[in-house]
Amino acid sequence: MNGGNQKSLRRQLIARMLSMMLPLFILLWGIAYFSSQYFINAAFDRSLVRRTYALADRVEVLHGQVQVDLPVAAREMLAFDHDDLLFHRITDPQARVIEGELNMPPLPRNKGIRSGQLLIYNGIKDGEKVRVAAFALPLQGTSASGTALIQVGETLTRRSAMADRATLAIVIPMLIMTLTAAAAIAYGVGRGLEPVSRLRDRLSARQAFDLSPVPLEGTPAELRPFMDEINLLLQRLSEAVEAQSRFVADAAHQLRTPIAGIRTQAEAAMASVRHEDAQHALARIAQSAQAMGDLVQKLLMLARVDAAENTLRLNRLEAGEVVRAVAREWAPQALAKGVEIGFEMKRGEAWVMGDAQLLRELLANLIDNALRYGGTRITVTVNGSEHGVTWRVADNGPGIPEHLRAAVFAPFHRLSGGVDGAGLGLTIVQRIAHLHGAKVSLDAGEGGNGLVASVKFPPASA
Ligand SMILES: Nc1ncnc2c1ncn2[C@@H]1O[C@H](COP(=O)(O)OP(=O)(O)O)[C@@H](O)[C@H]1O
Ligand SMILES: [Mg+2]
Repeated sequence: MNGGNQKSLRRQLIARMLSMMLPLFILLWGIAYFSSQYFINAAFDRSLVRRTYALADRVEVLHGQVQVDLPVAAREMLAFDHDDLLFHRITDPQARVIEGELNMPPLPRNKGIRSGQLLIYNGIKDGEKVRVAAFALPLQGTSASGTALIQVGETLTRRSAMADRATLAIVIPMLIMTLTAAAAIAYGVGRGLEPVSRLRDRLSARQAFDLSPVPLEGTPAELRPFMDEINLLLQRLSEAVEAQSRFVADAAHQLRTPIAGIRTQAEAAMASVRHEDAQHALARIAQSAQAMGDLVQKLLMLARVDAAENTLRLNRLEAGEVVRAVAREWAPQALAKGVEIGFEMKRGEAWVMGDAQLLRELLANLIDNALRYGGTRITVTVNGSEHGVTWRVADNGPGIPEHLRAAVFAPFHRLSGGVDGAGLGLTIVQRIAHLHGAKVSLDAGEGGNGLVASVKFPPASA
């Protein structure tokens, strides 16, 4: 999958899934955070309360005075922790601090504390958040009256560290799961789309005029209707192309007779007309009629080649024989122009799979070009090897400049204006080669002189 990825199915799926997962993920984070904070607070509060009651146990009244009896070990236990600052205070009914921290966050103002009641509240001490348990210890039955207030507090370092850890313990597996799911989807979609890329490869490997249906084996069910439509389209297209080439063939066929008639009539008239100008004009008419005849003949050929696409049956042929026959056929015409056609066979036998008539036509077009545009020597070579057979038609003429060599294959594309020709010869050559799975190329000859037209056939099956 490459290039225009903006609409990639894979990306869309992943984006959609992640955008759904993200709010869910944030919600889960919140739930995890608040619930773990709740439970951790509950646990820590319990130990805070325990310490408060333990401290209250140490309070006694002597001669109406509130006192505390704290052994050193108990004092240390009340004051020391690795992470948090612990502090406490005991206040007598007259609000005098008997023991502990002076700077204690006050009880929440809106909540009074009744005798015997325990209250837990949040506060700030030295700019830090703290949690405090307060117990109003009733002093009835002693020599004092009222309540002593016992407060035990601690900072929140350990609580929040634990809440964070508990949150992460929930959220991280969730995150890993989400990412794994996204990766699995990406991979799965990629695998799922493999048939699509295979189809794409199959389509892009096609030759321009291959309109046969795309093979459907291995196509997933979801793509089936889509491919069926493409195949229907291809079928309609190939029917249209066929109809068109049939029309061209019919038209060419219909034109043949009248054109031949014009030519014959013009030649006949030339014999009976005296006037020089009229003779000249008639000669031009005859010439034009011949050129038109050639064109029509090539059009007909092209249409036949196109039509052969569906009915073609390739036979195992000895290439040397085919080539020698055509070269011999053209020899007299060449000799008349003072051109010699040489024939070279590079190996004993060279088999190709082909249609003899079409291959003769192909070679005839190449020899015709060499005769028309080439120089004084034409060499036709057959070169057989295990990689397939190559035909070469070489001449010592002016050749074709490299940048024009691709263009001359296009229908009606001609370089030399003067000499008669329709510009269809190389088009026919290429189409016939294509029908045989062969490749045509034009190159400069030895030393950069002349033109070498090569046709390379694939190896013939036994
Ligand atoms: N052997 C050659 N040497 C030089 N030019 C050539 C040769 N063969 C073909 N060409 C050029 O390629 C053009 C296209 O050839 P072709 O398709 O056979 O059409 P046509 O022969 O009817 O003009 C020709 O017009 C000619 O200019
Ligand atoms: Mg030609």
